[in-house]
Amino acid sequence: MTFRPRRSVLYMPGSNALALDKARTLNVDALIFDLEDAVDPDAKETARSQVSDAVKQGGYGPREVVIRINGLSTPWGEADLEAAATAGPDAILIPKIFSPDDLTDIEDRLRKAGASDDLALWAMMETPLAMLNAGQIAAAAGTVSPRLSVFVMGTNDLAKETGARLVPGRAAMLPWLMTCLAAARANGLDIVDGVYNDFANEEGFAAECAQGMDMGMNGKTLIHPTQIAPCNETFSASAEEVERARTIIAAFDLPENANKGAIQLDGRMVERLHAEMARRTVVIADAIAARAIETTGSHETLPLHHRSG
Ligand code: COA
Ligand code: MG
Repeated sequence: MTFRPRRSVLYMPGSNALALDKARTLNVDALIFDLEDAVDPDAKETARSQVSDAVKQGGYGPREVVIRINGLSTPWGEADLEAAATAGPDAILIPKIFSPDDLTDIEDRLRKAGASDDLALWAMMETPLAMLNAGQIAAAAGTVSPRLSVFVMGTNDLAKETGARLVPGRAAMLPWLMTCLAAARANGLDIVDGVYNDFANEEGFAAECAQGMDMGMNGKTLIHPTQIAPCNETFSASAEEVERARTIIAAFDLPENANKGAIQLDGRMVERLHAEMARRTVVIADAIAARAIETTGSHETLPLHHRSG
């Protein structure tokens, strides 16, 4: 089983050349080079060529590289798609998906643009219609859109389009977040939580990361480097959890437990399904550990209050 950690997924404006460069040293699992909302209309062309050059140049190591293009109904979308298809990112992130038909269209265009078979599609789930069509959109991964692999929650656009407010606890968003999560899981997709805008509020951010972890999200999209370290920590199993997982696996591997569905471990019932969950925990922890070794030497950006200028 191959596994890519997607705990921390950092957006950066494609128009910010320094950020594209700095990304090569950040301890993130994935990078989203944005051509859409973070880029001013006057800077769209510059951003497209800058991002394309940076991706071709590479140097991002184990970090997954994703380009978010403008929607195909905008003046920039088509050229973005063509540039992204040939620059060699791991994935293209499509904004404002409404239905599976959008994916059929994108797959068709990517084929014509000569995109590699390895190129994945990530979908922004951020329109009211997409919330209602989430199951069908995710199911497209098994039919018309084999490239589809990740849902990215666009909570700012959801708030804008629905009128729902982004308040602490996100009560209004929960039905949509969990619907998209179920749709993703039912179809073998990963799902990454929306951004936390108030990046100077460390406590609020930590609470929202923990909420995303409890919901079952793979990770969270981020807007600022200071959000990376706490996010990675929250979305990683603790050393005790990994140890406990190894104990459960070892217990079920004992010959005397070979034919048992449930056993007793330290006074608690443990079922075979817990052993499966434990194996997943260990696979993820090992993948994260392997990744940490590969990025050793990279310096993490210090929290806001530790930075000098
Ligand atoms: N990716 C990479 N580097 C980033 C970054 C990001 N998302 N956000 C900030 N930085 C860098 C800055 O360039 C700056 O670098 P420097 O010290 O080398 O000059 C450093 O981190 C400190 O930045 P800071 O001064 O705290 O913030 P800012 O005022 O420059 O930027 C934002 C604030 C919100 C504009 C910026 O964080 C940003 O553009 N975030 C991403 C927005 C985005 O992509 N949105 C689309 C999806 S929601
Ligand atoms: Mg959006």
